[in-house]
Amino acid sequence: MQTAPQGTIAVIGQGYVGLPLAVEAAEAGWTVIGIDKSLGIVKNLNMGRSHIEDVSDARLAVLVKGKQYIASGDCEEISKATVCVICVPTPLDNDGKPDTSLLESAVKSVAPHLKSGTLLVNESTSYPGTLRDLIRDIVEKNRESGAEGIKFASAPERIDPQNKEWKLSTTPRLISGLDSEARKAAEDFYSTFCRNVVPVSSPEVAELAKLLENTFRQVNIALVNQIVPLCHKLDIDIREVIEAAGTKPYGFMKFYPGAGVGGHCIPVDPMYLLWKSRQLGIDLPFIEKADDVNGKMPEYVVERLLALAAGRESNNVLLLGVAYKPGVADVRESPALVVAERLKSRGFEVLYTDPLVENVSGIKPYKGEGLRGAIVITAQPGLDLGPLVSAGIPILDCTGAFKGISNVEQL
Ligand SMILES: NC(=O)c1ccc[n+]([C@@H]2O[C@H](COP(=O)([O-])OP(=O)(O)OC[C@H]3O[C@@H](n4cnc5c(N)ncnc54)[C@H](O)[C@@H]3O)[C@@H](O)[C@H]2O)c1
Repeated sequence: MQTAPQGTIAVIGQGYVGLPLAVEAAEAGWTVIGIDKSLGIVKNLNMGRSHIEDVSDARLAVLVKGKQYIASGDCEEISKATVCVICVPTPLDNDGKPDTSLLESAVKSVAPHLKSGTLLVNESTSYPGTLRDLIRDIVEKNRESGAEGIKFASAPERIDPQNKEWKLSTTPRLISGLDSEARKAAEDFYSTFCRNVVPVSSPEVAELAKLLENTFRQVNIALVNQIVPLCHKLDIDIREVIEAAGTKPYGFMKFYPGAGVGGHCIPVDPMYLLWKSRQLGIDLPFIEKADDVNGKMPEYVVERLLALAAGRESNNVLLLGVAYKPGVADVRESPALVVAERLKSRGFEVLYTDPLVENVSGIKPYKGEGLRGAIVITAQPGLDLGPLVSAGIPILDCTGAFKGISNVEQL
């Protein structure tokens, strides 16, 4: 890492990616303006209240107090910055295709305020060509002097919320630029708070590498999910098999089964790759198959629970842990939501308990009602199966966290 930098940067989008970046950069010495279109988020951040688990209130409050960090909803603030980093969501639309509308509108509102010489970085995940063909074009059309004088770079974020070992500063950071000047500027900027910056030859390489990483996970998770029914029929514990295979010191990586795949990355990023590929007339059947296999897991999980709870009368099913992964309150794309839909379509009342999630649309919090059975979707810290086990409720554990407990069957 370099010596402490001085200057102002703007980070657009203060969510799971943008806020940790803003805080890390502020701690490294930058003055950071965190722009978000949600004025509620802006207000809370300026009071030192973080909504992201990886950033504590205490850490944020120090920066707010020292004026190293300020949140704002006003894009005019961007004109004070020499670096502007975009971290807004890139979800899928209802047809499973890339929805870049938030990215496009963010770039559109940022563009008029970029002063000449600014480094504009995209961290949002997207298909190869996004920086060159989409972002540059929007800047060209929405800035007085077009794209002239702007350094365009790509630095896809790899953050894994709640990962205690690999953090923003320790995870190697891929960067590239539309030209060598932009790439050098991005390298210099990220080197101020990332230990290992890895320049690659083009933004498309960085963009595609990010998609490949999460596609690799999606496909490997699908592989183990596909083997789950086989192991169940053979009465073999799939997790024991995975651990056994994992003793091989080379050529194998452990991936685990579950009720599906969730979050903003694994179910989404491969679809960006698939879409781009289809545009070019190229099939990617591995991705389609993996999506199909993972997408069928919620139905399989429902079938397993109903078989386990055969003969029981109650119409209520409890979902334990509804966030997409342990330690976070994020329910985006969580398989719990799909499991709930599948149960509801069969006429069940779905209840949930999750120590970190306050509301889930369409599912009621559990208040001790009688149950047909329960499914552990996510091993959220603080989940207590004790009362359910004592009451003899059949439980299907999709996480492996409650192995060896009576009444608890493993997926
Ligand atoms: N969440 C992850 O673990 C993760 C990891 C790696 C990469 N990513 C990628 O990073 C990007 C951001 O994801 P996220 O999880 O941080 O999203 P998020 O929903 O947590 O946060 C995005 C924030 O951007 C704000 N926003 C949206 N449009 C805006 C605009 N035009 N101007 C200002 N603010 C705007 C929203 O109000 C929100 O607070 C996505 O492309 C995602 O795929 C996410």
